[in-house]
Amino acid sequence: MEPTLNQITDWAHEAGAILRAGFRQKFAIFHKGPIDLVTEMDRRSEDLLLERIRTTFPDHAIFSEESGRLNGNHASQWFVDPLDGTVNYAHGIPIFSVSLAYAFEGELRFGVVYDPIHDETYAAEVGRGATLNGVAIHPTQVDRMVDGLLVTGFPYTLGHPDKPDNLDIFPRMARRAQGIRRLGSAALDLCYVAEGRLDGYWEVELQPYDLAAGVLIAREAGSAATRLDGDTEVLTPPCTIVAANPRLHALMLEVIQGNS
Ligand code: IPD
Ligand code: CA
Ligand code: CA
Repeated sequence: MEPTLNQITDWAHEAGAILRAGFRQKFAIFHKGPIDLVTEMDRRSEDLLLERIRTTFPDHAIFSEESGRLNGNHASQWFVDPLDGTVNYAHGIPIFSVSLAYAFEGELRFGVVYDPIHDETYAAEVGRGATLNGVAIHPTQVDRMVDGLLVTGFPYTLGHPDKPDNLDIFPRMARRAQGIRRLGSAALDLCYVAEGRLDGYWEVELQPYDLAAGVLIAREAGSAATRLDGDTEVLTPPCTIVAANPRLHALMLEVIQGNS
């Protein structure tokens, strides 16, 4: 049995309501690493989402941020980020989302990213376009780097000698772009590109659950979304991502690869 977009949207809304109720309230914060946080609210949101998925689809595989991989290699695969933007959330900054995606035999079928503070629901079904609160969305037509307002992020492994940190790419992009933002939610970064609030996004060292829903939304809106080497297989860790309208995407790849 397959889920429906309405079902996934309802679940993202339920999880988002938990996050909204807890925002700027007292909640426990734990460290997964020196700068990598998880809050009590990440866990409560994830508990709700896993309960919904497992009750309805007990045999489906799930890859979720706080519980890891469940049910192995089933053809039906869920990607769950119960709170994308945890550092913002912990600081009371209202930029975060719930990100939920479903894939069948490796193909992304449904993706929902819900921002509960602004009540903005980004949703996509493969082959049927992407929407914000039910209205079709599309990326900008910007085709010069100098006109592009870009967004990026930096990994929690920053400073690790063996991990890419994005600090090499950042100055090259900064010298060419109109501006660069760091908003703190990869899922929303992708949705803002899909909708045309921002022109382009790139990042390194992500996980499939950061990207899955946002990538489907971006592609269904009309954006190109690939790894930094141009490969379209973006859900194999360690994940990298470049997303923009196809012309700006090609220019961003040139800058990232050092050819421009
Ligand atoms: C993080 C956010 C952030 C990105 C990090 C992610 P989290 O996810 O998406 O924007 O730069 O790499 O890990 O920890 O808030 O779910
Ligand atoms: Ca995340
Ligand atoms: Ca998270």
